[in-house]
Amino acid sequence: MQCLRFTDVCASGFAAGKRVFVRADVNVPLDRHGHIAEDTRIRASLPAIRLALDAGAAVMVTSHLGRPTEGTFKPEHSLAPVATRMAELLGQPVPLVADWVEGGFDLRPGEVVLLENCRLNPGEKQNHPALAAKLGALCDIFVHDAFGTAHRAEATTHGIAQTAPVACAGPLLAAEMDAITRALENPRRPLVAIVGGSKVSSKLSILQSLARRVDGLIVGGGIANTFMQAAGLNVGRSLCEPDLVGAARAVIEAMEARGAAVPIPTDVVVAKTFAADAPATVKAATEVADDDLILDIGPETAARLAARLQSAGSIVWNGPAGVFEFDAFARGTETLARAIAQSPAFSIAGGGDTLAAIAKFGIERQIDYISTGGGAFLEVLEGQTLPAFEVLARRAALD
Ligand code: 3PG
Repeated sequence: MQCLRFTDVCASGFAAGKRVFVRADVNVPLDRHGHIAEDTRIRASLPAIRLALDAGAAVMVTSHLGRPTEGTFKPEHSLAPVATRMAELLGQPVPLVADWVEGGFDLRPGEVVLLENCRLNPGEKQNHPALAAKLGALCDIFVHDAFGTAHRAEATTHGIAQTAPVACAGPLLAAEMDAITRALENPRRPLVAIVGGSKVSSKLSILQSLARRVDGLIVGGGIANTFMQAAGLNVGRSLCEPDLVGAARAVIEAMEARGAAVPIPTDVVVAKTFAADAPATVKAATEVADDDLILDIGPETAARLAARLQSAGSIVWNGPAGVFEFDAFARGTETLARAIAQSPAFSIAGGGDTLAAIAKFGIERQIDYISTGGGAFLEVLEGQTLPAFEVLARRAALD
């Protein structure tokens, strides 16, 4: 799906002197003192802003932060800490503008302002046409660069793309879509997906969609337990969804029908309680006791999967193999993470837990592409077209 790209708009000289509205996703985690705990998304928003500034535009940026009630300001939803960090990183002032929907704020070419949390504006979530019309009137060029929110059809991600004089994809949105397309649409094979996490129910449609496309589907975490049960193994008291055993079996069969596989763990790490200091025991997958909790894949399984990743052409990773937050149960996720890092395959990873695992094992630089999206990344893996991307493509086709 093609859409206009902001890099091309800037290269043509069109952005000089124009008012550019950038929808970023700087929905960053804050600690209990209201300080930014992790600023990846702010850093990821800078190329679009720099591009606009270098092109001679007057730049306004907005984002949501959390999920405030529209029309009700609470200090914890303010983008004030983001404005401070953005100013530090850009090396120029970034004033924060409140109550900005009607315009009336000063902004000259070469300047950038941060427009307060867009989810405070009544009509944002409903993508109300009246709000979208006002947003479109604020600018000459709308730049959608909020990949993390591209699965939401809201006024600043969707409506404005119809009302702004020009609407285009920012460099982050474009890079995310390019990386995911490269991994899924036209991958170097074998294409191996790793889907971990606690529940099959939250990722069933992703598993079903991937089962039609990938050459290997590695399951981890609670998801693997349900697959183990589908393969006839006892999982004791482990997190498992018996209702979805049939669905898991269908995924295994769909893969086998294509000559592909869902490798089932042959050994696991178990404990009697869910605790960081619970004694960890490695067992064969056939020997799990009724009172065991499976908290990680075993070393033999991890080594077998790691070897598989070495010969992959592309790897898509979402979700850990076990309870990696507890060191005694982190080995499986670590082994897979290091195997991805060492593999010559093109690798792409996304999702909150996955990013935390990547940070824990310090392999950021060895992953080819790390997505800033959580829900948006999952929806693309599911094979869905993101509304914000679809509206830009439709607009490009019309213009
Ligand atoms: C995210 O953190 O996944 C995005 O910023 C989207 O946030 P939302 O789930 O509140 O829409």
